[in-house]
Amino acid sequence: MTRMRALPLRSGTHAPTLATSRRAGVGDAARRTHELETLHRLARRVASEGEPRLLLERALDTLVAMGWFTCGEALLADDTRLATVAVGRCDAVDCDACPLRDGLEEGAREALRSGAVTHRGQWHLVPIGSDALFALAGAEDVSESFLAAVVELVDAALKRTHLHARLAEKEQQRSRLLQAVLSAQEEERGRISRDLHDQIGQSLTALLLGLDRNLEAPDPEDLAKLKEIASITLADVRRIALDLRPSVLDELGLEAALRRFARDTHERYGIDVRVLVTLSARLGHQEETVLYRVAQEALTNVVRHAGARAASVVVTVSHGGVQLVVEDDGVGFDPKALAAAEQVGLMGMRERLELLGGSLGIESARGEGCSLYARLPSRRA
Ligand SMILES: Nc1ncnc2c1ncn2[C@@H]1O[C@H](COP(=O)(O)OP(=O)(O)O)[C@@H](O)[C@H]1O
Ligand SMILES: [Mg+2]
Repeated sequence: MTRMRALPLRSGTHAPTLATSRRAGVGDAARRTHELETLHRLARRVASEGEPRLLLERALDTLVAMGWFTCGEALLADDTRLATVAVGRCDAVDCDACPLRDGLEEGAREALRSGAVTHRGQWHLVPIGSDALFALAGAEDVSESFLAAVVELVDAALKRTHLHARLAEKEQQRSRLLQAVLSAQEEERGRISRDLHDQIGQSLTALLLGLDRNLEAPDPEDLAKLKEIASITLADVRRIALDLRPSVLDELGLEAALRRFARDTHERYGIDVRVLVTLSARLGHQEETVLYRVAQEALTNVVRHAGARAASVVVTVSHGGVQLVVEDDGVGFDPKALAAAEQVGLMGMRERLELLGGSLGIESARGEGCSLYARLPSRRA
């Protein structure tokens, strides 16, 4: 428990309290003015504070400094406990020794449960929202409307800090994802550059040399070989272009692009890939691209790791969004057993999906094949 200075029985250092004002015969108008001035000051002091504990401390400090209370503390509840996070100033003894604090936490818990201002000994127990509370001591007479205005003000300020914290967290997550996407892009460019250099470059060099040879002394057999090199190179160029971005995805949509990739996988690796797409309309450009990339990566995994005979790619409308399921009948694996460094491909899929508000799920076990679920929410307006 945070230590606070204890409640003085008499405090001559503060501005006059409502009770002393009353005693001095100051009327309702003066009391109202003092309330408004306090609220004004309170609003100004909490407006610039982004950290909940400091915000509560400033609020307490203002209420005590303006003479409404002689001391106070702010308590915050989390899932497991209620803890004092700030104290208002009090110039007397050590507050652990303060007799007024007996039973305070229990009272605070009750007040929070009931959601209403309650009184316990000298304490006003004032809930603020569902998980914060002011315990304020030393006032004899504070109007309900003033307390309600204080609560509203501090509650709004607290909500603002929570909102800011959530926004900052989201921002961080976003920049982390962006970083991952950028580095994945860079990696992809590296791979394409290597493909171009190693495969296409070498084939074209071989062709050039062969053509030179044949210009000097034409040889039909050699020319036939060169023709074969040319057609292999053409197929390589088509494959690289398809990997980069199949034009069929833009022109004919996700289903046609998936069918094309499935046919290609069958022709190259002998795996049967069934494609079923039941969408009534085309998806957005980003959604189509992400689902295509996820299916591409998932089928590449089937080819590389599953040893499967067959696989399926199914795209359906689900829960108002879209779901892509890629399944195979291969060796399966334990997704939980993978270290982070071993699942860069899976993480890339997850990040692409999360960037559009979606998610990735994997169900697999050794000997049981693999089912991969990619979900995207319906498009936000
Ligand atoms: N369909 C699958 N069948 C069996 N194992 C798989 C399958 N998909 C993924 N895996 C396993 O998950 C690991 C991580 O996949 P991934 O992140 O794509 O990385 P990479 O393909 O580069 O190894 C793979 O190395 C493999 O062990
Ligand atoms: Mg992979």
